[in-house]
Amino acid sequence: MQTASRLYGIGEYYFSQKLREIEELNKTGAAVINLGIGSPDRAPDETVLTTLHEESAKPNTHAYQNYKGVVALREAIANWYNKWYSVSLNPASEILPLIGSKEGIMHICMTYLNEGDEALIPNPGYPTYTSAVKLAGGKPVSYELKETNNWQPDFDAFENEDLSRVKLMWVNYPHMPTGQMPTKELFEKLVGFGKKHNILICHDNPYSFILNEQPMSLLSVDGAKDTAIELNSLSKSHNMAGWRVGMLCGAKERIDEVVRFKSNMDSGMFLPVQLAAVKALALDKKWFDELNDEYRLRREKVFALLDLLHCGYSKQQVGLFVWAKIPGDYKDGFELSDEILNKAKVFITPGGIFGPAGDGYIRVSLCSSVQNLEAAIERVKKGRT
Ligand SMILES: Cc1ncc(COP(=O)(O)O)c(C=O)c1O
Repeated sequence: MQTASRLYGIGEYYFSQKLREIEELNKTGAAVINLGIGSPDRAPDETVLTTLHEESAKPNTHAYQNYKGVVALREAIANWYNKWYSVSLNPASEILPLIGSKEGIMHICMTYLNEGDEALIPNPGYPTYTSAVKLAGGKPVSYELKETNNWQPDFDAFENEDLSRVKLMWVNYPHMPTGQMPTKELFEKLVGFGKKHNILICHDNPYSFILNEQPMSLLSVDGAKDTAIELNSLSKSHNMAGWRVGMLCGAKERIDEVVRFKSNMDSGMFLPVQLAAVKALALDKKWFDELNDEYRLRREKVFALLDLLHCGYSKQQVGLFVWAKIPGDYKDGFELSDEILNKAKVFITPGGIFGPAGDGYIRVSLCSSVQNLEAAIERVKKGRT
């Protein structure tokens, strides 16, 4: 069957392909240690689980739900934004719960991009931005992030380019895959840039609570809602990746526009999931402290693994991964990743899947126990001798 032309140039997601390869290796008894994907391996808080159980046991919680989610969830999101980011959002009009933030990326592209409209995409960056822009008929225009510029956009370089067809800009800080933190100054520049060039700045913010004491929202900048929207998610911050709970926040007009598309794609999420998410959003600092204590222990092991591989890395990075520069004797991160997979049966993500600017890097996930990471270190030691 001939697929639609919008699928030209859209391959299967790298990880879905790679997981199949790893499965094949596992069938031969390899028991690959997968340090690739950023899917939290621990459970949500007990109160979240209890709420899901209790609510789903009721007879009247199984119907279709409103596209904009229940009031309790929107209020919980508004309180969460207020408490942690000092951002004030109107729960009635400035919040749209999503079935994970990934779907929001697609909804935004479908809502705003006409055929040939351009969208600025970070390189390196989350691959979904590029595919969503392409699927919506837009043209991804990558902007390079460089280590020497703290993985921040080069705003001077933009001024020399023709931005007349640019409608959207994707940004994501703390940045995946490099772990670069945002600064207030960077966020202010982004808002200024969006306003000056009439570009909708789409900030994707799922990592702000991981190994980071100062979560920041782009919407905290004065006037940000005039030119920016923000996606957020409970996947990483609350160990709820499989639950699919995310949100879009921004001006009422933007939310209404995106709802016009989303309400034709799906219905509101399962009510017990929404009510359990309300509990998750009310968790206090203790939850994040415990989460981050564990990630800190794991990160030390990852640093040791990277030392063994002679990779260079910054200890200031945050988020669910460690991003590291490969030694010069490898052509690129793919070569190093393949070597470790074949010799040590450990999978590490090659940085090149996030764009050519990631070619000289690898990315190691922290979603694996200390014990697993120690086993990976032992395997790499053995595989190299
Ligand atoms: C930068 C970035 N944005 C969005 C997502 C998607 O998160 P969600 O589970 O909320 O769809 C991910 C997941 O890995 C991510 O790394």
